[in-house]
Amino acid sequence: MESSRLFLTAVGLVFQPIRRLGSIYSKIQDAVAASERVFEILDRTSKIIDGTKTLDENITKVEFKNVSLKYEQSYALQNINLTFNKGCNIALVGDSGGGKSTFINMLLRFYDTDAGSIFINNQNIKDFTQESLKHQISLVSQRIYIFQDSLASNVAYGQDIDEEKVKEALKLADALDFVEDMDDGIHTMMEEFGANLSGGTKTTHSHCPCNL
Ligand SMILES: Nc1ncnc2c1ncn2[C@@H]1O[C@H](COP(=O)(O)OP(=O)(O)O)[C@@H](O)[C@H]1O
Ligand SMILES: [Mg+2]
Repeated sequence: MESSRLFLTAVGLVFQPIRRLGSIYSKIQDAVAASERVFEILDRTSKIIDGTKTLDENITKVEFKNVSLKYEQSYALQNINLTFNKGCNIALVGDSGGGKSTFINMLLRFYDTDAGSIFINNQNIKDFTQESLKHQISLVSQRIYIFQDSLASNVAYGQDIDEEKVKEALKLADALDFVEDMDDGIHTMMEEFGANLSGGTKTTHSHCPCNL
């Protein structure tokens, strides 16, 4: 009698670990599927071939010559000719879907032109290393992203923090005053998406040129 009760208890205790094994197996399956998707992206090679020259001089002239770009089948932009020189303020105005973002995407080589070429200081942008090209251009997108790090790291944006440069950038963006009013100044920790900054403050902050 005693031993059969022990046996039944033992059988009862076996079920829980078996059930747990089942749920672990399904979690492993999820992880395998997710990592396959991640590695598929990581293994992709870019069609954009990097240049070899370093763009280390200031940009004084940007020229679009007969530039066209199509996504899949249809053209987003066709035969664009535009030249602008240092000191110009240019506004591209047009309907949503008119190709404004596409224009900027090509300048930064997120996409290469299908026809025509883009020149910076009379040199085809394809000749430059993408790293140096992107280093010379500050892009403020519609969607502001603030990293969960110190305010100074957000301004330095991946570069080593040089406090003087960070302050100079903040000053140029008219942001130094409010930053110095914060408890830890430029070392104030930002919450993800800048949750501890107001909307306007976020935008000003992200206007700071990161490549002084
Ligand atoms: N990555 C993409 N893949 C396919 N089509 C795109 C892509 N990006 C933009 N488009 C299309 O290209 C056209 C221009 O878009 P876009 O440059 O974003 O215009 P804008 O910035 O002026 O609103 C639109 O028709 C848009 O649907
Ligand atoms: Mg756009």
